[in-house]
Amino acid sequence: MVTSEHDLVVVLDFGAQYSQLIARRVRECGVYSQIVPYTVSAEDIRAMNPRGIIFSGGPSSVKTPGSPRPDAAIFSLGIPILGICYGLQVMSEMLGGNVTCPEKKEYGLQNIDIVDRNSALFSSVSDKSRVWMSHGDSVDKIPEGFHVTAVTPTCPYTAIEDPVRRFYGVQFHPEVVHSEEGEKMIRSFVLDICGARADWNMGSFIDDAVREIREKVGSRRVLCGLSGGVDSSVAAVLIHKAIGDQLVCVFVNNGMLRKNEAESVLELFGRHFQMNLQYADASEDFLSALKGVTEPEAKRKIIGRVFVDIFYREARKCGDISFLAQGTLYPDVIESRSPSGGPSSTIKSHHNVGGLPEDLKWELLEPLKELFKDEVRELGKELGLPDELVNRHPFPGPGLGVRCIGEVTRERLDTLRDVDAIFIDEIRKAGLYGKIWQALADLLPVKSVGVQGDERTYREVCTLRAVTSEDAMTADWFRMPYDVLQKAAVRICNEVPGVNRVLYDITSKPPATIEWE
Ligand code: XMP
Repeated sequence: MVTSEHDLVVVLDFGAQYSQLIARRVRECGVYSQIVPYTVSAEDIRAMNPRGIIFSGGPSSVKTPGSPRPDAAIFSLGIPILGICYGLQVMSEMLGGNVTCPEKKEYGLQNIDIVDRNSALFSSVSDKSRVWMSHGDSVDKIPEGFHVTAVTPTCPYTAIEDPVRRFYGVQFHPEVVHSEEGEKMIRSFVLDICGARADWNMGSFIDDAVREIREKVGSRRVLCGLSGGVDSSVAAVLIHKAIGDQLVCVFVNNGMLRKNEAESVLELFGRHFQMNLQYADASEDFLSALKGVTEPEAKRKIIGRVFVDIFYREARKCGDISFLAQGTLYPDVIESRSPSGGPSSTIKSHHNVGGLPEDLKWELLEPLKELFKDEVRELGKELGLPDELVNRHPFPGPGLGVRCIGEVTRERLDTLRDVDAIFIDEIRKAGLYGKIWQALADLLPVKSVGVQGDERTYREVCTLRAVTSEDAMTADWFRMPYDVLQKAAVRICNEVPGVNRVLYDITSKPPATIEWE
């Protein structure tokens, strides 16, 4: 938990799909926001000293026995509360109102009518604002002290408030972009109703995180597995800023990195940031373990297992370590959420360091746990990481190993590295890199006949793939301009000796996945 000298607004998480967005919207107002599980005690909240509390939505019905409830003492803290959807319902129910489960559920865009123009929540919102509704249950009796501030034709208690106690509730989701003036409502709550000072930015995040890391770590030592990706890089630089040489980074070259990647990681972190870097070129270990293996899952398992072995072997060389640093982001925390409701800290499985060996007793240090990917990128820039790294496309842990379809050999990896580098280079030259979620090249386990000069060739076939996506759960193929494809194909066949045929993958996800394996 990051303690801050800045004003704080706490988001109580009832399991909402959108609670991440709420915290983010508050941060966009220049006020620090932190998400805590709904199970937090009122005492703990008092200790955090927030200027305001937001109850998130959630998938439950308050009418279901055992549905999530906050500590009732929260209502006596004298702190303003904004309840969103389930947050509104649980507040109403607990303060003496009532909630029903009507047959007609309400989803989608709605125009609300603001019926109380004195409401501080709606002070800068137009009379008929468009909002995003997504709820099954509705309040049908409001608690004493509350009055209605907004309605829709089907929902008489769309927004309610008790301005004396500074309790506000909305049945819609102001945090999502579809709620056109939602941002203004959150701003009014945070800045006017809670009176929070808007003096927080990524620079303040760094100051707070540095202080926090120093307090937590003391004179002990931290180990960080550096992959060259955005999250671990930002985490490492942030921790390094806090504790300097007490941080040791382990960078394992699995032989399946992109062209010049190992060199640039060593250059940037070793020479530029002067980090204590333990480098292991383990390409031989990986390649010999992968010899003859073609089945995708078997390859992934082997790469994972060898990584674990090497990582721990290198870690043991680093001396006495107390913490393992990870670039876990909020969405990762949510993915591994515990059934009891609160976000839990589990090591990302694809980091492959789960299940620590007996002799390594490390605590986790996850300084990015509250942030979203784009916030991490902003933080990385603020910390002086180069734009190229900060805005990199995602790259899988098993690297080019899952893009060398069929057997993974040093020669094929070298070929693929060259293909990949040309493809990315052409995309960058065309100014398209930032428009694409991920661009990748694969080598197929087939050869094809070609003719070059007057000679018949029989060489590898590669596919190029570029996708657009929001979150990698679904993806569409990128409509790559023909001239970019043409330049890439010509260069690949001319400059990469092992390849004589280039394909472009036009499958979306689903039915395909982004990676081929
Ligand atoms: P798929 O292929 O499942 O990939 O559509 C979705 C996203 O996840 C990335 N990916 C991985 N990332 N370790 C990682 O760190 C992995 O083992 C791994 N496998 C897939 C993939 O590149 C895409 O962004």
